[in-house]
Parts: sequence; C-alpha cells; structure tokens
Amino acid sequence: MVQAVRGMRDVLPQEARRWRLIEDQVQEVLHSFAYEEIHLPLLEFTELFARGVGEATDIVEKEMYSLADRDGDSLSLRPEGTASCVRALQEHGLLYNQTQRVFYSGPMFRYEKPQKGRYRQFYQIGAEAFGFDGPDVDAELIVLGAQCWDALGIADRVQLHINTLGSGGAREAYRSALLDYLTPLAPQLDEDSQRRLNTNPLRILDSKDPGTQLLLADAPRLPEFVDAESQQHFEQLQETLTQLGIGFTCNPNLVRGLDYYTHTVFEWLTEDLGAQGAVCAGGRYNGLVERLGGKPTAAAGFALGLDRVALLHEVAHPESPAHAVDVYVCYGAAELSAAAQELGIRLRQALHDQGGRTWKLRVHMGGGNFKKQLKKANASGARWAILLGQEERAANQVTLKDLRDGTQITLGEGGAVSKLIEG
Ligand code: HAM
Repeated sequence: MVQAVRGMRDVLPQEARRWRLIEDQVQEVLHSFAYEEIHLPLLEFTELFARGVGEATDIVEKEMYSLADRDGDSLSLRPEGTASCVRALQEHGLLYNQTQRVFYSGPMFRYEKPQKGRYRQFYQIGAEAFGFDGPDVDAELIVLGAQCWDALGIADRVQLHINTLGSGGAREAYRSALLDYLTPLAPQLDEDSQRRLNTNPLRILDSKDPGTQLLLADAPRLPEFVDAESQQHFEQLQETLTQLGIGFTCNPNLVRGLDYYTHTVFEWLTEDLGAQGAVCAGGRYNGLVERLGGKPTAAAGFALGLDRVALLHEVAHPESPAHAVDVYVCYGAAELSAAAQELGIRLRQALHDQGGRTWKLRVHMGGGNFKKQLKKANASGARWAILLGQEERAANQVTLKDLRDGTQITLGEGGAVSKLIEG
C-alpha cells in the first residue's frame, strides 16, 4: 500500500468538520471587515520567493519544494502567500493608485521537520492590506485576528505579542551591531545560531538554546536602533490597541523568520500546543512591493495557521463539532429507492428555504429492510430518520422518527418539514 508523503497530512471527515467550521467563521469575520477573497496559484517562479521572502531565510535556503519545469524554469510550491499576493496584485495593476484589502486561503509547503502542529503541507488563511501606511491598519489586522478568536471561542487561549523592527535602515544598523557583538562569541553559540550568524543573525534572538540566550543577555537591543518615526508608529499602535481593549505584550525579541518585515511585527501565541505555539503571525512589509519590482507601497498583513488553530480549537472544544448527518431517509422496498431520492431532493430544498440553513440529509443506499436501514441511520449520528413505506407513499405521507427517544409520527411532507425545523 502506498502511503502519504511524510509531513503531508490527511484531514479525515471528523477533523474536516472542525476545519470547515473554523474556515467558515474566519471567512465570515474577514467578509464582515469587507476584505475581498482572491485565489492564487500553488506554483510560482522560485525567484519570487528568493526575492520576496529572502535568500537568507530558512524557508528559501532549505525548505522549498522546487522543481524544474519542462522548459527548465525553476518553480516552487508556495511556502507562504504574501509574496504571491503582491505578485498577483502588482501584475494586474491593482496596486496602482488604489488601496486593497484581500484575503486568501489554502495549502502552503515547507520542508520542515514534521511534528505535532508542524507539517510540510499546512494551511493558512491570510489577510493583506495595501496602500495604508498608518498604524490604524496594523490595529485593524490585529482586531481581525482577535475577532476570529472570539468567534471560535479560543480568545482566552491566545496572547498577542508585538514588536517593531524599525525602518529597513534601522534593521540593517542593528544587524551589523548584533554581528559585531556575536562574531567573537561564535564558538559558544548553538549550531543553528552559528549558521544563522552568516545568513540571518536577527533570528538568533529567537533561539531556544539556554546557552545562546545567556550570551544574548548583554547583546545590543533592537529597540535602541529603532528610528523615531517607527517608534512613534509603534506607540500609536499600542494606544489604539489599548483603546480597542486588546491586551498585548511588547516582545523585543520577536523578529519573525521572513525577511520582508519593517516596523510592526506581531504573533498570536498559545501555551496549549507545546513548541508550535504561534497560531497566527504577521506584520508590516513596506518594502516588499518595491523589492518585487513595483512602486513603493505600504503594506501589512498576517496569516493564521489553520492546522494549529484547529488543534487549539480541539483543546478548547473537545466535543466533535456538528453532526455529519441531520436527517436519514429510509425506504421500505427496493422499488421505492428512486422515490426516496426524490423525497430527499424536495426535503433538502424545503428545509433550506424554511429552516434558513443547509440541512445534511442523507438518503439510504443499497436496500435492506427498515431495521437494517435504521441501524445505519443511528450509526450516522442523525437525530431524525424519515421512513418511506408503500403505505406512506400511497397516502403522500412520511413517518418521522426521533432517533433519540424512538417516538414516531406519520404526517404529510410539509408537516414533517415544520416538525424538523421546530426540533
Ligand atoms: P509565518 O509565520 O511563516 O508567516 O506563518 C504564519 C502561520 O502559519 C504561523 O504562525 C503558523 O500558525 C502557520 N505555519 C507556518 N509554518 C507551518 C507549518 N510548517 N505547519 C503548520 N503551520 C505552520 C507567513 O507565512 C507570512 N506570509 C504571514 C504574513 C502575511 N505576513 C504578512 N502577511
């Protein structure tokens, strides 16, 4: 039997029901903020991510799934959505003289070491805002996240961490100060940090190694390098968040693993998922549009990790969300099979129209007597069974059976619909 590729996970029906619920609620929040959905390709030129995410990042250095196209172009499965989003809006002239607020969702691919909450194919829902340079939009993106946690009932399990990286220049100055400090100490750093010294020294601040953390205690600190304008932007963001009642922690070690950030960065962290604590992350990336060939454009966004949000949702709400089936239709004889399907079509429509939502109505397949069919109905988790026998059919009626207490009543289709909706 051929198995799934390592790090590529199947989301089976029971888990997928939870995912659906989360995706629907998050997308509803995004729609309510009037963000517009876009769909982006899974494959892009490798160069997009090399230039966008940064040559020296872990993602581009060692985590991309890259392949040569038949004509020799190097393509990569997208490791994230921001660079693609910029590429698409820029390519279609949608960043010219206008603002944009968009969202996307779907799988991303990174060749990471798989573990709980970290996969090689994982899912993000991302939101990006273009053309706004004030801290108000940073705050809006954070509020969007907060409203998602409220809607999902996990608000008390996530904490917001924020930081500012300053302008691009400030970041460069800090980078070289950090390098000057750490280079003589290189032999004492952990292995990962030694490698990062040459590629992405800011990421060393993220190191979990206690020895490295000890060395960092006396290192130059990022806030001392942040320019006044950026500091003011950051202070205004904090004031707005306070006014909006959103709690946060300022974390000067929060630097993020992608190269495009400037000014604000933020992460929503949880303590309930062990090492993979970041459920959502983002920030401002004012330089990216220009880096990818466009005009200088202010931009900010975030991406929420659906796999991790789903794990957290399960911790908070262990019961399985929603039933797979609401109503199970059984029929009394083989020749009633098509009539049962017809009945199903009518009932779905009536329940939708009168009940104001989609009802999950499954029609029995494969025959068998009522007893056998009712066994299937019970196993499906449905609250209700509808029985269609020859007599009911002749009288234009159905029998509605409450599978919780076994009571049943024979009535017309319209009556059955009303009774189902009443509950
Ligand atoms: P990121 O921090 O790389 O940022 O990913 C965002 C979120 O995706 C993480 O907080 C995490 O929840 C989830 N995630 C990342 N890698 C994995 C993985 N291997 N397995 C499971 N979940 C994962 C970005 O991707 C930026 N594009 C976010 C952004 C949008 N910044 C501005 N706009």
